[in-house]
Amino acid sequence: MGNPRAGGVFRTKVQERFCFETRPDPCGLVIFGASGDLAERKILPSLFRLRVRGQLPRRFYALGAGRTEFTDDVFRERARTAITSAVKDASPESLKEFLSALYYQPLRYDQPEDYRALADRLVSLDQAHQTGGNHAFNLSIPPGLYECVIRELGRAGLAQERENGHGWSRVIIEKPFGRDLETAQALAKETRRVFSEDQTYRIDHYLGKETVQNILVLRFANIFFEPIWNRNYVDHVQITVAESIGIGHRAGYYEEAGCLRDMFQNHLLQLLCVTAMEAPSSFHANRVRDEASKVLRAIRPIPIDRVDERAVRGQYGPGRVEEEAVLGYRQESGVSPDSRTETFVAMKVVLDNWRWQGVPFYLRSGKRLAARRSEVVIRFKHVPHSLFQPLQPTDLTANTLVLRIQPEEGVSLSFETKHPGPKMCMSSVEMDFDYEQSFGEPPEAYERLFLDAMSGDQTLFIRSDWINMAWSFLTPVLTRWAADGSPAPYPAGLWGPASADELLARDGRTWLNG
Ligand code: BG6
Repeated sequence: MGNPRAGGVFRTKVQERFCFETRPDPCGLVIFGASGDLAERKILPSLFRLRVRGQLPRRFYALGAGRTEFTDDVFRERARTAITSAVKDASPESLKEFLSALYYQPLRYDQPEDYRALADRLVSLDQAHQTGGNHAFNLSIPPGLYECVIRELGRAGLAQERENGHGWSRVIIEKPFGRDLETAQALAKETRRVFSEDQTYRIDHYLGKETVQNILVLRFANIFFEPIWNRNYVDHVQITVAESIGIGHRAGYYEEAGCLRDMFQNHLLQLLCVTAMEAPSSFHANRVRDEASKVLRAIRPIPIDRVDERAVRGQYGPGRVEEEAVLGYRQESGVSPDSRTETFVAMKVVLDNWRWQGVPFYLRSGKRLAARRSEVVIRFKHVPHSLFQPLQPTDLTANTLVLRIQPEEGVSLSFETKHPGPKMCMSSVEMDFDYEQSFGEPPEAYERLFLDAMSGDQTLFIRSDWINMAWSFLTPVLTRWAADGSPAPYPAGLWGPASADELLARDGRTWLNG
């Protein structure tokens, strides 16, 4: 039981009623690309936080692997620096304890003998830490190396599992899963030759966010949202993942990827799925993932000659973001001065099923926008009749439910109230639930995802059929944009190009920018 606290205009009574506990098995985690940005910024600090909270198994070790010739001690020092810059209150004692279970093995990704040496090292670490031969292999390496590393793990016998769930072997991979349908299928085929689908954990870090999981809880652990969560009451849905940052030092990757591959193929479509899916029969990995896949099966395809009606792209020019002057995309270091890469996409998605017939989902994402804001906005219909004449139903503001994913994680619901006084006047007010006020700062997505991978729970990981469907849906858009035209420029610090507003204006709607 927690303490009742006030949260915004809601009173939030925090009661831990029921918990599915994730119990990770004793194991060794091998981090390929351990000196890279992702490992240092996200993975090592997440593992450390889990250790501090007592959520990592007691019998656990992590082994960094990569081309750089570090010793264990040098790697530990790098990890110490990475963790202390990410975790402000890291105590020296807990750091010491965490680092003592951290090791490093130099490894050339394409050399079979290095994997044999890795296998030998794992045997001795398994013994030292009594982990029973369970191994998770995290590939925090450039995607071009995935197939090679997976193949060599297979050849070295490291993908083999013993019977009865003991001595398991799992591979954890990060997006991008291919750069189109063909390359995604090739990667899936190579992966399947070595690791079964049950051994493969594909990360979309958005699914690790508390607030994204909360969409499922909000929808399916409450009675009052579900009856109105459909075409009878919902006018349309807006899903926004807006970033105020630019591309940082990732020009090489981003020039090749662009916003559609970087954000839509994964995060935006996953948000669409959790918002639109039917209730799974249980919170079991394949029941939940079946429902996510069904959403993609219901998406109305975009014919190549109608892409312009359904999707728009933009590219940021110079401007001001949060009071600061910033460069345009084409001026960023490493970006071609005539780059056609899109940094913004908005799309109208239509689902052909009973629940959502006639309810458009508008999705948008971009860099260097006016604010960092990720949210799902459910805009309800107007009341059918107004008794408050001369006000018409459309004069009354439609109810809006905002699921704030980040920042200021929470949920707010706007509704009409009577403004006090002798006249019948109305005001829109908001009920607001603030996650942090009620529960403290939400944990980092990677913490949850690594715990789940170590526990064998694939609910929050992407299945390969979903990936294929996501690519199939986006292929006409990719093809059309590769063949023709350029993204529309937008000044950094706005909400994207004018064409994004026109996309909604054609349907008589506007983006709700908060
Ligand atoms: C990543 C993209 O997957 O997600 C980045 O590659 C993007 O371009 C990032 O900045 C956004 O994640 P978050 O958690 O900061 O919203």
